Amino acid sequence: MPILYNEQDQTITLHTNHSSYQMKIGPCGLLVHTYYGPTAGGDMSWCLSFRDRGFSGNPYDAKTLRGISADTLPMEYPCEGSGDFRPPAFSLRRANGAVGCDLRFRSVKILPGKYSLPGLPAVYTDEAGAQTLEVTLADEAAGIEAVLQYGVLPELDVITWSARITNRGAEPVVLQAAASGALDLVSGDWDLLHFYGRHAGERAAARTEIGQREILIGSRRGTSSHQQNPFVILARQDATELAGECLGMSLLYSGSFSCNLGRDQFGTTRAVMGVQSEHFDYPLAPGESFQAPELALAYSASGLAHLSHLFHRMISQHVCRGPWKNRRRPVLLNNWEATGMDFTGEQILSIAKTAAELGVEMLVLDDGWFGARNNDNAGLGDWTVNTEKLGCTMGELAQKIRDMGMKFGLWIEPEMVNEDSELFRRHPDWALRIPGKPPVMGRNQLVLDFSRSEVVDEIFRQITDVLDECSADYVKMDMNRSITDVCSAVSGYQSQGKLLYQYVLGVYRFMDRLLERYPELLLEGCSGGGGRFDAGMLYYCPQIWCSDNTDAIDRIRIQYGTSFGYPLRTMGAHVSAVPNGDTRRRTPFHTRAVVAMAGTFGYELDLNLISDEEKAQVPVQIETFKKHWNLLHNGLFYRLTDVMKNRQEAAWMTVAEDGSEALVNIVVLDATGNSPNRFIRCMGLTPGASYRDEASGRIYDANALMTLGLPMPTVPHPRWPVQVTPCEYDAFQIHLTITD
Ligand code: GLA
Repeated sequence: MPILYNEQDQTITLHTNHSSYQMKIGPCGLLVHTYYGPTAGGDMSWCLSFRDRGFSGNPYDAKTLRGISADTLPMEYPCEGSGDFRPPAFSLRRANGAVGCDLRFRSVKILPGKYSLPGLPAVYTDEAGAQTLEVTLADEAAGIEAVLQYGVLPELDVITWSARITNRGAEPVVLQAAASGALDLVSGDWDLLHFYGRHAGERAAARTEIGQREILIGSRRGTSSHQQNPFVILARQDATELAGECLGMSLLYSGSFSCNLGRDQFGTTRAVMGVQSEHFDYPLAPGESFQAPELALAYSASGLAHLSHLFHRMISQHVCRGPWKNRRRPVLLNNWEATGMDFTGEQILSIAKTAAELGVEMLVLDDGWFGARNNDNAGLGDWTVNTEKLGCTMGELAQKIRDMGMKFGLWIEPEMVNEDSELFRRHPDWALRIPGKPPVMGRNQLVLDFSRSEVVDEIFRQITDVLDECSADYVKMDMNRSITDVCSAVSGYQSQGKLLYQYVLGVYRFMDRLLERYPELLLEGCSGGGGRFDAGMLYYCPQIWCSDNTDAIDRIRIQYGTSFGYPLRTMGAHVSAVPNGDTRRRTPFHTRAVVAMAGTFGYELDLNLISDEEKAQVPVQIETFKKHWNLLHNGLFYRLTDVMKNRQEAAWMTVAEDGSEALVNIVVLDATGNSPNRFIRCMGLTPGASYRDEASGRIYDANALMTLGLPMPTVPHPRWPVQVTPCEYDAFQIHLTITD
């Protein structure tokens, strides 16, 4: 059984197919964590140390047993006020203002199937073996109860965490922190891998020793953010792509979050993750509950590549939903980088016509089609079609595009309002603002109070009127500023944490309603590119625009970092024009396509403006994508080079799960004359098998490809009849198929 409660040992052990997790009801009812690692059993509380340590206090009921301390034991859900001075998962402010409580074990329940969380994203499964564990902790005197929820998905090798906190007392209380989960690892020196960045430079991969300190990463921006991603990895210091222990934590939540990590005075490494605890202050009246978002946890004994595969499978099959989850996504062309908001219907049709002729399958009309939206200072909030600009209705435009044989999609940004809009003039109190304080502007727009259902209802009504009219096949749902002035006109100065949380739930509700109304809709997430790229969002949108930066070379690094926690099929990636708008860099058309194929694949430029030679490449690129999409999107993904360190070449590959074929992708980052020989070591091929390079016919031994490596391809010299090393930014795709 995946969950074993041993009443005699007082242990609760969770087993997935290749990992085990254990907690124990320790002395004084303290719920302690004993193990997370490769499959193991028995009572592992032999790892606990009950030494009397100075300045580590003891529970009152431990009496003279000074070895019992919440400050030195690995705690399952550490709580402030219990004597544990490390970062807490839980902190309570009582009605009288005093901070602190002491949660102790009360009961355990094992349920069939994996729980779901109403109104919040959660990993789902119909796996027969999945189970749910609920462990109830309480502090009766403080009137507080915490139900720790665990989902065990054996086949997936994933364990999920959540917590439901209820005020069972007679007085109101305030939650200062209520994390989704915490992990105390009693042994080992661990590195943290986290994914940081900025707008147009998301998810750079960083690896740092956790060491003897506290590290805090997270977002205070109301969204999961460009700056830090709610996915982190703890890796043993010797862990590499193909070997060593590592574990990942992915928060299924799209708002502010925090992740506290550190090694304590006695060598235990703690990681706590959940909604942002700074200014959380979530009030709970008697009888009220708070549901922490879900955190998914996976363990790999064999390196980072395998850990990524576990998260890729979880996200693509058990987080993403709807008809598009396993379908090939249409090759789309988005007009944003081609026209900005300065377009006419004629121009869109001209872009669409060429795109259709070259094999593009869907035209997406981006920002600028509604209200007085001719620049980014006005119009948000007024979702009425600008028929003057289009020269027709949206229904007519969509029909003309469908007549060309393409699908039609539309951009929206429902959570926002410009002061210069009819909506704001009618409902100034619908925007988040602190009375008497000039609000902070972002892209000259304000944030609508999506915690209020009447606000969501009105925006939903306006937007669905247009979507109904044009029967949109696809929607790109954007969000283009960080949230400030967190104050609702309805509830006044209510808790920042509660408002931001209710806001996120409002966004989720909005997306759920869209998907209910249009069951075939393909929804793409976006927040100034990848500012809300998280597993929570992927529950609604099977793909998210990965970054506003479409420079192929920058994108390699962005997609590399993203790949640790998220599969390729979730990363919106397009071929755009050169010189690139962000970097002014020129890269070959082919290279841009190779990089975009490590994502959803599409175009973001006016194909009328490229050369005839490039135009001829478009149908070839689309055919290549169609030929390999299954391998690209369903194969196992391997990072062959560390693009944060290796400045010479970037390489990645996908391998079919049965090993029958593989696609190796190489981009030259830096060229040098008379260069030394370079080899790319492959990964994940079937050991002992032989593979044929489909282009050259050359046969390679898999073991040799994985040790010696694939020689860097050569290219013909432009003038002489010899092969030479490729140029900077040249790209190659090598299709390998297994030979019998
Ligand atoms: C954001 C998106 C872009 C584009 C613009 C439109 O920046 O990331 O792709 O849609 O908004 O304003």
